[in-house]
Amino acid sequence: MELRSTPAIILDCDPGHDDAIAIMLAAQFTRLVGITTVSGNAPLELTTRNALIVTQLLGIETPVHQGAAHPLAAPALHAAIVHGESGLEGPVLPPLVRKPASRDAVAFICDTTRHETDIWLVAIGPLTNIAHAVEKDPDLVNRIAGISIMGGSTHVGNVSPVAEFNVWADPEAADVVFRSGATIRMCGLNLTHQLMTDDAIVARLRDRSDAVAGGVVAPFVAALLDYLHGRMAELRGERRAALHDPCAVLAVTHPQIFSFGDRHVQVELDGELTRGMTVVDERSAKDAPAPNVEVAYEIDPAVAMELVLSSIHEH
Ligand code: RIB
Ligand code: CA
Repeated sequence: MELRSTPAIILDCDPGHDDAIAIMLAAQFTRLVGITTVSGNAPLELTTRNALIVTQLLGIETPVHQGAAHPLAAPALHAAIVHGESGLEGPVLPPLVRKPASRDAVAFICDTTRHETDIWLVAIGPLTNIAHAVEKDPDLVNRIAGISIMGGSTHVGNVSPVAEFNVWADPEAADVVFRSGATIRMCGLNLTHQLMTDDAIVARLRDRSDAVAGGVVAPFVAALLDYLHGRMAELRGERRAALHDPCAVLAVTHPQIFSFGDRHVQVELDGELTRGMTVVDERSAKDAPAPNVEVAYEIDPAVAMELVLSSIHEH
């Protein structure tokens, strides 16, 4: 699958097992200008440490800028039940050598997009940093190529019947972003559940013939997925996991393997049962308000999985 052009991105993340794989995918298929971290799957200190560890494991020098330690209004909530207390449970984590480039992710996002236009912001954690950046510098939305989000859903939730974790963890931030006027691509759970890993993928990573002798990246990801499949077996009854965050990277690097629909999307902030829900208006054009989001509906999972696996190697 030919890459049409190499997009420049800033990856905002909360590693997190699938975030770690998304970093590898971004390193392979984008010009990864920088990584910003946010509280989400784990507290900020751990998501920042985990992002540094993954870049160190890959041997890449991408700067990591630490961001928000808590949501705009909601309490800081985490997902240790899925990702473990460390946020990257499974593999033995190497000693950390790298340090954050700054503790001001928002300044990095605003300054970088002022000096270079057409950067994609790829947001795969709660949208707190992106919302802060948009509120600090509203013109940002005119300078960037767009915001590719792993978040929300057209119907099914995960942390509640209707809410997906990244939006649910900071719905006020998601509301700011969806109202911002930016070009937005949304890979919700309706999409990401089409890209599933299982133990056959773990076996491929462990047995791959192209592994560099003594290579560490493929075994690291195999251990991440082995742990994640175990958690999914406990929580959902099967040893399979959705590769949520890589979808938001692929929506920028390989949009041709997706189908999108332009929809009006709002975030529910007040509903007792529905707070954090992305309300996707699928009525006909004459009834629905003007679209503000390119909602991803389909992905080619076979092509997507091969692209993901091709990015899991020593860099
Ligand atoms: O709901 C899935 C999202 O929540 C993914 O970004 C995963 O990393 C977690 O943050
Ligand atoms: Ca994430």
